[in-house]
Amino acid sequence: MRDPLPPDGNESTGARPRVLIEARTGSLLGSVELDDASLRKRLAFLDYGPTDDALLAELHQFALAHVDTIVDEFYEHLLRFDETREILRDPAQVARLKTLQREYFLRLTSGRIDAEYFESRLRVGAAHARINLRPEWYLGTYNLYLRLVMNRLRAYCADDPERLTSMIAALSKVIFLDMGLAIDAYIWSGYVDRALAQEYRRVAEVAEHTLHEKNALERAKADLTHMIVHDLKGPLGGILTLTQLALRKREGLPDAHAARFAQIQRSARDLMRMIENILEVEQMEEGRLTLRAEPVDLALLLAECANEFRATAEMAGQTVTVEVADDLSAIVTDRWVLRRVLNNLVVNAIRHSGSREAIRLEASPEHGGVRVGVRDGGRGMTADEQALLFSRSHAPLADGRVRSREDTGLGLVFCKMAVDAMGGTISVESAPGAGTVFTVRLPAVSAS
Ligand code: HEM
Repeated sequence: MRDPLPPDGNESTGARPRVLIEARTGSLLGSVELDDASLRKRLAFLDYGPTDDALLAELHQFALAHVDTIVDEFYEHLLRFDETREILRDPAQVARLKTLQREYFLRLTSGRIDAEYFESRLRVGAAHARINLRPEWYLGTYNLYLRLVMNRLRAYCADDPERLTSMIAALSKVIFLDMGLAIDAYIWSGYVDRALAQEYRRVAEVAEHTLHEKNALERAKADLTHMIVHDLKGPLGGILTLTQLALRKREGLPDAHAARFAQIQRSARDLMRMIENILEVEQMEEGRLTLRAEPVDLALLLAECANEFRATAEMAGQTVTVEVADDLSAIVTDRWVLRRVLNNLVVNAIRHSGSREAIRLEASPEHGGVRVGVRDGGRGMTADEQALLFSRSHAPLADGRVRSREDTGLGLVFCKMAVDAMGGTISVESAPGAGTVFTVRLPAVSAS
């Protein structure tokens, strides 16, 4: 049995370890971060030792005798395959390569695996990565080497099969060592399959283009929707003015007609509210909504709101009452936006509470600011339902209610965004069967 290098790099002979690598600047060995210890480990892993050195050195005479025919057959084989022939299409280059291949082959049997050996093998690997030779052709060719050598070696050691086996073993170790170094060089060179990389780039470009087109389409769609929604305000304003005029001169109208006009007016107002919700949520999302700051008398605001929705509430069998604390002073905020928040909360209470009782609008001072509540005695909500209230989610609520069926579902989303913009908070307290109260808390002076 021969002596392999132990994993720690010490030869089992007890002799001082050979230094495989001298630290050299600009070497590939340094670049791929292979130091003396790691190379020793590699040799130990292949079970390569001094016996193999000796066997390979012994093979050198054989190599010298056969190198020319081996190298010729090597290139004959490569020229038989389209992929490799394509690379070797220049006969002058093949002639040059044959010389280099001779040196390479003879070095295999030099029995001298030192730093220079590792370095030269890494350089050969890097040269093939550079010409973009796919690894399967490069590594596969090492097998060709073994085949070409073994055929001849069998005849060379015909009378000594044991020697033949040891020589093939030594040769295959050094060839596998070369293959490992070739892989290192490919990795170090950052080899990529260029055709594949190009294909990936093309796919990425197509994906990016598609995404760009999709975004542009979505923007165009959003702009169009915005325009349509915005343009609806005109004719709707006309309907509102006409119904208001008709209702003002209701003395001459039969009761049934007046009731229909009132119904048209309520529906048109609902529609206007939804349109404004859509447009303003959009404005707030884009940070384009600027708030005005003006003194707001909450008692008046709540009364106006109650008056506007009283008729609608009554049709649903509900009443709307207002309860304002005596010591409530005016706050400074955007009156129009706050009014629209209240409108949305009241419509929400009328539509979704299922209450047959009073819907109460409350306002009282709190911590230097105000607390405004919209309370109903309706069916209430579970915690899960409450969690979805201020989001754009259109998930159906439990017990069959669908929040967005009757409007755009943006009412409470608008409320949340508007109250946030005013520097306040909005919250909900509810429990199944126990009614719901939406509470808006605002500072005395809202942020603008
Ligand atoms: C066991 C496999 C192979 C070995 C040992 C080998 C060996 C060599 C050597 C020693 C060189 C010279 C490197 C230098 O300039 O330092 C070289 C270069 C070259 N080899 Fe190979 N080769 C192998 C496989 C292949 C294959 C499969 C092809 C493909 C047809 C190929 C094509 C080339 C080409 C085109 C060059 C010139 C590279 C350049 O211009 O930098 N080789 N080869």
